[in-house]
Amino acid sequence: MKGLILAGGKGTRLYPTTKVVNKHLLLIYDKPMIFYAIETLRDAGITNIIISLSDDEPGHFMKLLGKGEELGVKLSYVIHGEPKGIAYGIWEAKHLLRGEPFVVYLGDNIFTESIKGHIDYFKKHKKPLVLLKKVDDPSRYGVVEFIKTNYGKRIKRFVEKPRDPPSKFIILGVYCLTDQFFKIYPKLKPSKRGEYEITDALNLLLPVGYTYYWGGWFDCGVFEDLYKASKWRREVVLSQHVKSV
Ligand code: G1P
Repeated sequence: MKGLILAGGKGTRLYPTTKVVNKHLLLIYDKPMIFYAIETLRDAGITNIIISLSDDEPGHFMKLLGKGEELGVKLSYVIHGEPKGIAYGIWEAKHLLRGEPFVVYLGDNIFTESIKGHIDYFKKHKKPLVLLKKVDDPSRYGVVEFIKTNYGKRIKRFVEKPRDPPSKFIILGVYCLTDQFFKIYPKLKPSKRGEYEITDALNLLLPVGYTYYWGGWFDCGVFEDLYKASKWRREVVLSQHVKSV
């Protein structure tokens, strides 16, 4: 199964830093952000990884990561033009993804725990799947609305950054998708912010399955999470150092 890491985007919430440096190359304590994405996918059993970039600085990534041997993965690159949203980024990689289930990973997400169990579940069922987490401030993210059924609850719809969130469960930046995505994509229209939203695509893919991720998680598109992720990583590194002396 292939993984697609989306590492383009303008990173406007981290301006002025990201005016000249791609967000995914910023330092999270001891290594660039993109390493965490690659390692999380690799540790979940996905080693055939495509990195999607906008056209500004692909050379930096290639110099840093090459073909991926040092990280134990096989990397390929897709370069698209002007970033126009997550769904657009996936569409632009269709020539490499068509025909089999795949996992999309937003390059600014950092998971403190393994996501292997979630990916294994998807590998078994091969139906669209999202990872959910309960948070205090859902308005910053894609949020799910549930509907009760005789068997529990299922997802009724997805809403992007709602002012009045229908629940506290947000969609994390790992989307387990099938070829069906490429069939519904042409129906999407850009949102008010001019992007092809992943939440609109997910609504067209319903019913979508879900699993709960209970570990630590950071969305490093904002300063606060960049800081918290670095702090978490520092503690991990220092505790490893203590164990080894
Ligand atoms: C994106 C998605 C959102 C999701 C979030 C997770 O938002 O649009 O649905 O919950 O990633 O990181 P962004 O943080 O790129 O604005």
